[in-house]
Order: sequence, then C-alpha cells, then structure tokens
Amino acid sequence: MDMLNLSALDLLTTTRSVRQRLDLTRAVPTELIRQCIEIALQAPSGSNSQRWHFVVITDAAKKRAIADLYRKSWRAYAGAEAGALQGRDAPSTVARSADYLALHLHDVPTWVLACIEGRAEAAPSAQMAGLYGSILPAAWSFMLAARLHGLASCWTTLHLKYEREAAQILGIPYDTVTQAALIPVAYPIGTDFKPGARKALDGVLHQETW
Ligand SMILES: Cc1cc2nc3c(=O)[nH]c(=O)nc-3n(C[C@H](O)[C@H](O)[C@H](O)COP(=O)(O)O)c2cc1C
Repeated sequence: MDMLNLSALDLLTTTRSVRQRLDLTRAVPTELIRQCIEIALQAPSGSNSQRWHFVVITDAAKKRAIADLYRKSWRAYAGAEAGALQGRDAPSTVARSADYLALHLHDVPTWVLACIEGRAEAAPSAQMAGLYGSILPAAWSFMLAARLHGLASCWTTLHLKYEREAAQILGIPYDTVTQAALIPVAYPIGTDFKPGARKALDGVLHQETW
C-alpha cells in the first residue's frame, strides 16, 4: 500500500479517532501493521528502556471476548447498552461515535494492544509518569504511522477496567506487564479527515507562570 500524500502538518492535525468510518469488511495486511509498529519503535522512552510490547490481535474469538469486556465497561460509563445511542438525537457526536465502536469493536479487523513491562499501581506519580510516558508516545506514533499508511484507528482504554481478564485471554503476564491502549485498526471509509474542535490555545497556554 502506498503512503498517503500528507504533509507532516496535515498528519499531525488530522489523525482522528475513527470509529464510524472504519471499514469492517476489509482485512488489514499484517505486513502493514508491522511497518507501522516499526515506525512506532522510534518513539522516546524513559532511559531509552524500550520496555514496550505490541500485541496484534485478529482472532475472532479473542476479539469477541475482549469486546464483551469493553462493552461491559462502556455500559457502566455511558449508562446504556452498546448500540443504544445509535439513531438518538440527544447524545453528543463523540458519544454516538463511541457507542458505535462499542457495538462493532469485535468486527474491526485488527487490534494493536500497546503494553509496557512494569506496573504502577500505588506507585509515586513520578514513577507512573515514567511508566506510561514510555509507552504512550509509541502508541500515538503507531496511530500516526497507520494514518500515513492509509489506515484508520482509535485510541481506546475502556477494556482496561477488566485488564486482568483481558490479560488472561491474551496470555499477557498481568503481574509484570501493563496494558496501556487498545487500538482497533482498519482501512478508513474515505481518507479525508479534518482538524478536530479543540479548546482555544490561550485558555491552556501558560507563559512563564500558571
Ligand atoms: C487516554 C485516552 C483514552 C481513550 N479511550 C477511549 C475509549 O475507550 N473509547 C473510545 O471510543 N475512544 C477513546 N478515546 C478517544 C477520545 O474520545 C478522542 O481522542 C477524543 O474524543 C478526541 O477525538 P479525536 O481523537 O478524533 O480528535 C480515548 C483517547 C485517549 C487519549
């Protein structure tokens, strides 16, 4: 697959959370996923420790089992069964989009689960920052690389409420490895994405002092 002809600026400002425009009917070549993970390995990590791991999941039964965990978490979060918000007018665009993903998660052809060696439960915040800070840049780089390679994805964390159960399904050693982000990946329906609505810069930028 050829790479999209996107400037760095376009890539950085139009890599969206894609849910309703994921093509659930088209398989994603493993080689393409490997290329994107290879790019992600250029991300920074604390002391260049590179304790990251990426679990690629395409198996229908495993996806179904983890999607069920995700939906349980979604139900608690959204107060509705997955799919209940479809067609309703009231929910926000993000809520409806997230509801769609919850409903169809198991049908997204490939998932990439970004993990890091170590656990930070009850750790001092500096240690927690070091742990997550050593995997999240790579996970985002993966999403950028995926978009550049003509794919679409969405950062998700909802299944982590049941991280231990997911670890068991995937054979991940829960006691020594933390799951950080579950990223469903598919070809997008159309490749044109726009910058998202964001808070104004001056509301979040602090010059010299808070
Ligand atoms: C830490 C984190 C956790 C997220 N968890 C979920 C999730 O579990 N499910 C989901 O559908 N989206 C999830 N998202 C995606 C956000 O909803 C999304 O990034 C946000 O609405 C902005 O939209 P955009 O990425 O298209 O600009 C998560 C994003 C981040 C950074």
